Amino acid sequence: MTAPLPAPAPAPSLVAVTGAEGFIGSHLTEALVAAGHRVRAMAQYNSFSSYGWLETLSAETLGQVDIVLGDVRDPGSVDQLVEGAEAVYHLAALIAIPYSYQAPHSYVDTNVTGTLNVLEAVRRQGTPRLVHTSTSETYGTAQTVPITEDHPIRTQSPYAASKAGGDRLADSYHASFGTPVVTLRPFNTFGPRQSMRAVIPTVIGQVAAGERTITLGDLRPTRDFLYVKDTARAFLAVGTAPAEAVVGRTFNAGTGGEISVGELTRLIGKLMDTDLDVREDEERIRPAHSEVMRLVADASRLRAATGWQPGYDLEQGLGHTIDFFRDPGNLSRYKTGIYNI
Ligand SMILES: NC(=O)c1ccc[n+]([C@@H]2O[C@H](COP(=O)([O-])OP(=O)(O)OC[C@H]3O[C@@H](n4cnc5c(N)ncnc54)[C@H](O)[C@@H]3O)[C@@H](O)[C@H]2O)c1
Repeated sequence: MTAPLPAPAPAPSLVAVTGAEGFIGSHLTEALVAAGHRVRAMAQYNSFSSYGWLETLSAETLGQVDIVLGDVRDPGSVDQLVEGAEAVYHLAALIAIPYSYQAPHSYVDTNVTGTLNVLEAVRRQGTPRLVHTSTSETYGTAQTVPITEDHPIRTQSPYAASKAGGDRLADSYHASFGTPVVTLRPFNTFGPRQSMRAVIPTVIGQVAAGERTITLGDLRPTRDFLYVKDTARAFLAVGTAPAEAVVGRTFNAGTGGEISVGELTRLIGKLMDTDLDVREDEERIRPAHSEVMRLVADASRLRAATGWQPGYDLEQGLGHTIDFFRDPGNLSRYKTGIYNI
């Protein structure tokens, strides 16, 4: 008698990611593949055929990734991305606050209309799960701390307003059509591959490039910094949790800690063994009523629904980020000598 053949391994489930070539999207793509998924990854169409950070993933990971160039502003492009996916993770967005002062229409096109296109595709195709990405910026300066999901929404920049518009559309699709959408609201995320529009790469990148005089915007605002691998795990947590635990709900992801930009810069200087001369630069200071002065998360809803909690503390995350920027190959991808908006 011959032994029965082992059952074939189940085919990996297909998930789709928008904004996959970006900072958080590339880490999420890696985490999804590590969790056994096949990923259809949208990178924004561009004339260089660049796949952004996806180009730096390992060959093993890329073996489970189908990269498609597209645009969330184009409904047909989104329809093709979503087809046959068991879950869609929607991260594509314009994210820089200073650039949203200059080009607000493009933020509405991408963050509001783009989100509408994703919701429509998911609704029409009956996709079982959509994870929509919000941001802590939608809360504005904290009125009560830590910030729960019931904190008022107060949009202090066109970026925040456009993200809140996408959030409201997501809520409305769940209420109107039962679309199985869950909204994740990450607090400030940092780590390898982040662009130099954000404060941590700005400081680390300038120091790694040999600068000792660091120019920044306002040093007083405080933020709750979450390491990117923890953010990626939060996406997976809400993307894979039982529907009754998460669908139709919004979840903060943050550590519950806070640090000012000034203190953070001193901490980075200490971790990089460097005495820094920190200067505030007028050009980088936001209009007074637009600057969000304080953000600190209460993520207990996410913990209760999924068991998620951060795995890295700030110094550990900064250590990994410093290692990344000290690698000359990585640093050469950045323009450390200019103000990146
Ligand atoms: N970085 C943070 O601290 C943070 C915090 C909270 C929420 N978020 C949200 O997380 C998501 C990812 O942000 P990130 O920090 O990785 O930024 P990112 O700029 O690295 O990633 C965004 C990606 O979206 C893509 N994109 C932009 N317009 C597009 C379009 N029209 N069509 C298709 N793709 C398009 C960009 O090419 C980019 O790769 C965003 O939705 C952002 O609002 C970020």
